[in-house]
Amino acid sequence: MNTTVEHADFFKTLTEKSEHGSLRGNYEGADERYVVRQNWAQYTPAQHALWRQLYRRQASLLPGRACDAFIESLARLDASDGIPDFTRTTDALYKATGWELVAVPGLIPDLTFFEHLAARRFPVTVWLREPEEFDYIAEPDVFHDFFGHVPLLLNPVFADYLQEYGRGGMKALKLDALKYIARLYWYTVEFGLIQTHQGLRAYGAGMLSSGGEIEYCLTSPKPRRVMLDAERTMRTLYKIDSYQETYFVIRDFEHLFSTTEPDFAPLYEVLKTEEALPADTLLPDEKNLPPN
Ligand code: PHE
Ligand code: CO
Repeated sequence: MNTTVEHADFFKTLTEKSEHGSLRGNYEGADERYVVRQNWAQYTPAQHALWRQLYRRQASLLPGRACDAFIESLARLDASDGIPDFTRTTDALYKATGWELVAVPGLIPDLTFFEHLAARRFPVTVWLREPEEFDYIAEPDVFHDFFGHVPLLLNPVFADYLQEYGRGGMKALKLDALKYIARLYWYTVEFGLIQTHQGLRAYGAGMLSSGGEIEYCLTSPKPRRVMLDAERTMRTLYKIDSYQETYFVIRDFEHLFSTTEPDFAPLYEVLKTEEALPADTLLPDEKNLPPN
């Protein structure tokens, strides 16, 4: 197929989805998997300086809020000095868990995204936010993608989960179940909480890369905190333009893995007969876990 037409179509669908905001990446140079060259040498000193500021602020918020696996893995990535060169990160990552980073211009089509994950390739956006977006950015940039997502790829159980998620996503597309599998990603990989002996901690990239939500998700009395359950989670709508109204909690990464291991095909059939639940739902039989 003519890739230019495909890119143009994709652009159109994305810009029509207003929630995704404007696209900044340049899709021109992308190959058929939407992979580009990172062009690391082209980042400016000002961009590296902005990265260091973002990194320093966010790293200072991690103790007592991020799960230990994340804090330990982030340190191993050695990414505090400036926007990382993905090829260098891939060397370390590949040795640890067999994952690679690939550079992408921004959001990519669902199938392409799932195919990358299923092949243990994590797509990382190449561009960095502007200084005025220090605290909030609507679409993922290199800081969110790298700082938020890449550290846990060093964790063997989480690394396997993400690959299984990619395979599950490809299957969900065939079963017309994209929205269900997308909710699962949202409430685990992006906004998941984990129980520890010291209290709740964040493992979701959405809060780990956010200056505000990393504290809100743990201590605010407002949102609901409910144990992860595949059907409940995939029924639940989510907010993309505010802090979450519900967080799903796992006991450990094995719990995440075992919850998502069963064949979802029969579950999708059930979900298709059910109404979606609003983001602020608490079911009658459900325990709302206390904040830290
Ligand atoms: N078990 C899911 C299925 O059968 C696939 C999956 C695995 C989904 C891991 C998410 C995470 O579709
Ligand atoms: Co993300």
